[in-house]
Amino acid sequence: MSEPQPTYLSDYRAPAYRVTHTELTFDLDPAATRVKARLHLERHPERQAGEPLELDGEQLDLKAIAIDGQPLGADEYALTERGLRVDRVPERFLLDTEVEIAPEDNTALEGLYRSSGMFCTQCEAEGFRRITFYPDRPDVMATFSTTVIGDAASLPVLLSNGNPVERGSLPGERHFVTWEDPHPKPSYLFALVAGDLKKVEDRFITLSGREVSLQIWVEEENLGKTDHAMASLKRAMRWDEETYGREYDLDLFMIVAVNDFNMGAMENKGLNIFNSAAVLTHPQTATDAAFQRVEGIVAHEYFHNWSGNRVTCRDWFQLSLKEGFTVFRDQCFSADTNSAPVKRIEEVSFFRTAQFAEDAGPTAHPVRPDHYIEIGNFYTLTIYEKGAEIVRMLRNLVGWEAFRRGADRYFARFDGQAVTIEDFVGCMAEASGQDLDQFMRWYSQAGTPEIDAHGEYDYANGVYRLVLRQRTPATPGQPDKQALHIPIRLGLVGTKTGRDLALTLDGEALGRDAVIHLREDEQEFVFTDVEEAPVPSLLRGFSAPVKLHYPYSREDLAFLLANDSDGFNRWDAGQRLALLALDDLIAAHRNGVEKVMDPRVVEAFRALLDTDTDDKAVLAEMLTLPSEAYIAEQQPLVDVDAIHAARLFVKQSLALALRDDFLRVYEANRLDAPYAPEPEQIGARSLKNVALSYLMSIEDEEGIELARRQFEADHNMSDVRQALTLLTHSSRGDLADPALRAFGEKWAHDPLVMDQWFSIQVMRPQSDALDRVKFLMDHPAFSLTNPNKVRALIGAFAQNRVNFHRLDGEGYKLLADVVIELNRLNPEIAARLVTPLTRWQRFDEARQTLMKAELERIRGEALSPNVYEVIEKALA
Ligand code: ARG
Ligand code: ZN
Repeated sequence: MSEPQPTYLSDYRAPAYRVTHTELTFDLDPAATRVKARLHLERHPERQAGEPLELDGEQLDLKAIAIDGQPLGADEYALTERGLRVDRVPERFLLDTEVEIAPEDNTALEGLYRSSGMFCTQCEAEGFRRITFYPDRPDVMATFSTTVIGDAASLPVLLSNGNPVERGSLPGERHFVTWEDPHPKPSYLFALVAGDLKKVEDRFITLSGREVSLQIWVEEENLGKTDHAMASLKRAMRWDEETYGREYDLDLFMIVAVNDFNMGAMENKGLNIFNSAAVLTHPQTATDAAFQRVEGIVAHEYFHNWSGNRVTCRDWFQLSLKEGFTVFRDQCFSADTNSAPVKRIEEVSFFRTAQFAEDAGPTAHPVRPDHYIEIGNFYTLTIYEKGAEIVRMLRNLVGWEAFRRGADRYFARFDGQAVTIEDFVGCMAEASGQDLDQFMRWYSQAGTPEIDAHGEYDYANGVYRLVLRQRTPATPGQPDKQALHIPIRLGLVGTKTGRDLALTLDGEALGRDAVIHLREDEQEFVFTDVEEAPVPSLLRGFSAPVKLHYPYSREDLAFLLANDSDGFNRWDAGQRLALLALDDLIAAHRNGVEKVMDPRVVEAFRALLDTDTDDKAVLAEMLTLPSEAYIAEQQPLVDVDAIHAARLFVKQSLALALRDDFLRVYEANRLDAPYAPEPEQIGARSLKNVALSYLMSIEDEEGIELARRQFEADHNMSDVRQALTLLTHSSRGDLADPALRAFGEKWAHDPLVMDQWFSIQVMRPQSDALDRVKFLMDHPAFSLTNPNKVRALIGAFAQNRVNFHRLDGEGYKLLADVVIELNRLNPEIAARLVTPLTRWQRFDEARQTLMKAELERIRGEALSPNVYEVIEKALA
């Protein structure tokens, strides 16, 4: 195989031929499925006559080919590395092909594959070319008519996109169903499912009074786990009508749960296919976080029906057009349905840890990349989450009303089309009358902008001067960056009153909470009539995806933590305060100096524990220390062990000083009511479980007893999982082993619960974590071909910072071994799994050497394009 070559955005051309209608017939067989395709083709009006027809195709065994009913001779077409070429074709014609494929050998889980005995598909981004020869690109949109033929006994259910129009039996105990999808769609939205599935049904009446049948298809044993997904779906449908005026457009909406799936879920038209982990819930098997994740993903895929399906992407460089917008939509939905402040805290806390790390590493790329080798590597936090942050900034810049008008315009103007990010932002510019040219740089510049802020209060004149300087560090292929348009929401909190002061900028009264616009490399903002010395509260609500540096003193931070009117920044002040204390302790650990706890942090936490708040979820977040990964993000060079020791020291010091407060909070937040995944209960549980984690950090006898009882009470998975985690992560084998054994036996039959059991064990801070991974890889419930299992065991272990980064390099070696095996089985998962090794520059020399050696070892293999691209970047 030749070296994989990049595709460039600047090379985009309309397709030479387009497909207006696609007829497919699948004759399903695990080893030899026959796919007949009849494509109604015509020359693209923008392209010249006489160009060859080039179709994508991979791993297809061509059995027959004809144009307008005439079989082609061997010299009339060519099979190429990319697919199929026919040099001479008419202006309009029918192309018939028949291919054979082997779903049972498809471990990459792209195209048509088998999962737990059923057949299913995953076509985004380029999986359809593993099903049939086709112009497999999003700007070719056709109506589809699909006939699925299968064994009547083992495959009683045969599904595809759109509406079923015909069904019947066939000789040889086989049957068929024909589906018609009237909405033109690109091939990546095609789906097929066949298996022994059971459905749960409900209905939804749309705003205009149409009835939609809603179906969730699962394996029989999971019939009791669909309630929450169904309720979430109905809420999402209503929300999209009320918020964006978007109605569903078919009579049938189906969700199918499959056990083997590379990602969370997929928005195929009328037939969403979900990783079972993203749809199934039950109080006994799923945590609060899992319930919320299911709600978010069900909504996300549903929202794609408009932002993605009705209006899709011209090419894959525009991926964030649908993903950034749709993530933003699902974030707003979840904020509206749950506690909005805690939702924002969770989003940002995840974003600043994981996306910032991506933006600072060797695979950093713009939200709209300009080239790629393998598009499957670009389903990233940058495309999704940073893309969503950009849309959020847009919403805030133009205001909700103009944003909604812009969205209406976008959906109306481009319905049924495949478009670009300019088309979207253009609608927002038109609707708002704002100039968004500079703003567009957010899409083309990679890297996290950093802002240095300095403020000075002039007592004599009541003037506050704020100087902001921005710079975006160089990223691979982008040495120089231009200034971005950065909206900064802020308040000035009066040090005497603790209240937001009135803001007057250039003579204009802005209220007490305002947005200022940084557009230059450096800008000074002069606020007048500032009655008292303020502490600035900057970047409220994380108004832009940047790192903001301000020389806050610990007193400033304690003050903001107590007084800021913005809940998000109150939380962030607590995080910053903890980080300052952690910095000292990390240094102390490295220098072998005795560690001393900063009393200001203890007092700040004491005050938090005394507050009587109704948003318990936010309080729980405030009591949660920055994660080791986030602390590492702040360090110039990551010292894994010092970070672990320092964080543990802070946690234990707080637990020792505030033991009785934590006990009191625990007791006050026990719930006897039946489990419900509702904000109030979730908040109380989080708070209680945070308190328990402090008590367990010092292995307090009473805490241990509470954890044990919480585990045994078996009230719901959130409580059980937290108790099991704390028992397993304690230093006492007599606590860990019996609990793990009991849990493992009880849930041996439930793959999603076993995933949790795997993760909990390999996240142990104790030094046996690596041995446990090796041991568990032979466990009957583990499988290298199931992505959920790989993530639960191997992926989780790579997040176990002290153990993955062992100085003997054994953690790295294990990861590399698995990557090498998965490179053959499932390249997309392999390329994701290798990520932690690609961040080698962040570590000390000894670890750098070990990590690079493993990357080199992987490079020595015959690599898939996916892994090749990531490894080349990491070693560049
Ligand atoms: N569009 C899907 C989503 O809702 C993700 C599909 C990812 N596919 C892939 N091969 N990586 O976000
Ligand atoms: Zn999506």
